Amino acid sequence: MKELNPGLEGVVVAETRLSLIDGERGQLWIGGLPVEQLAEEPFEAACGLLLDGALPTTSRLAWLRAGLGRGRLAAYAALEALRGALSADDPMNALMASVALLKLPQQDATERALALTGAMAVLAAAHGRLRAGDEVPIPDPAADHAADLLRLLGAEGGEAGARALGRYLSTVCDHGMNASTFTARTVASTGVDTASAVVAALAALKGPLHGGAPGPVLDMLDAIGEPVRAERWVRNELAAGRRIMGMGHRVYRARDPRAAALEGALSLLPRSAGRLALARAVEQAADTVLRERHPSRPLCANVEFSTAVLLEALAIPRGAFTSVFACGRVVGWCAHIEEQRRSGRLIRPAARYVGPILAA
Ligand code: COA
Repeated sequence: MKELNPGLEGVVVAETRLSLIDGERGQLWIGGLPVEQLAEEPFEAACGLLLDGALPTTSRLAWLRAGLGRGRLAAYAALEALRGALSADDPMNALMASVALLKLPQQDATERALALTGAMAVLAAAHGRLRAGDEVPIPDPAADHAADLLRLLGAEGGEAGARALGRYLSTVCDHGMNASTFTARTVASTGVDTASAVVAALAALKGPLHGGAPGPVLDMLDAIGEPVRAERWVRNELAAGRRIMGMGHRVYRARDPRAAALEGALSLLPRSAGRLALARAVEQAADTVLRERHPSRPLCANVEFSTAVLLEALAIPRGAFTSVFACGRVVGWCAHIEEQRRSGRLIRPAARYVGPILAA
């Protein structure tokens, strides 16, 4: 009988040029570049790295910026038709419903990826705006994508905020064969269109064990309130059989390298200092207590921990955190979808049947 592997740990299903994770050492390279270095680049450059395979030249960067800008404008022009889809209660449901209805360029994969990545920013921002009864601002196609996303969301931070959000988007643009990327590749392997594969990826991202963790991380920080209460709170939570959000990772056995990249982004924002101190105390307490309980299984802070503090410091509403994550990850999904298409292989694993065989 074949070996059962329910979580697919260590199973290699694809060759990729997009990202490499060294979980033991806590290192990540995206398109060959250490994540710490990519975090310093504007999101447009991260898009170029994933879609072209190299960091863009100055003129290519301008072309990528224009492509994202056109994507934002096209989504804005479609908002009236997408109003029904965007009225879903849950922001991720709204994103899925509206992405499913997008009309994307058919011929060129890079233009399609930019159109979808640009559109995602408008759709992610539109949900909260429309529910609050506000107008969705007109996108500025000449602006940096991160700066325009920040403005569309109605968030704060000015130029420093835009740089911090840009760092966040570049940091999370791709991350190996995580659940949503695997989902995108699986769905793309059936030959379906890009938007459909991205809708499936969004559904995977929504889960609290994947991209849905940052909201609960903030709920945890709120509940703890002060650094001195952190350890007792963590112990009580674990005693009640619950997991500590923002801690642990399937692949990393060291601190998630993206956490440090995001702390760099946080340092650009003056109002985050108190919250960052609380977050550090909670991380330290969780680290100590989890180490006691699982001495042979390191459970360190993952990217969602610092994501929560960063997005809160930008005054992005909690409900939009996972949608904003999708705004960065979507370009990685698009690049993986194209890689999968080039491989031409339908992803179709097997299951071990444990049910009865009934007599005919
Ligand atoms: N808090 C408390 N215990 C945790 C934990 C956490 N955050 N993460 C893992 N553990 C425990 C498990 O309960 C398990 O304990 P057991 O052996 O006594 O049953 C042990 O550590 C091994 O965990 P496992 O379920 O094998 O880890 P995984 O690789 O399947 O899980 C995550 C990875 C990310 C799903 C998991 O760490 C988690 O749920 N984290 C919280 C959610 C989160 O932050 N998600 C964002 C990920 S980027």
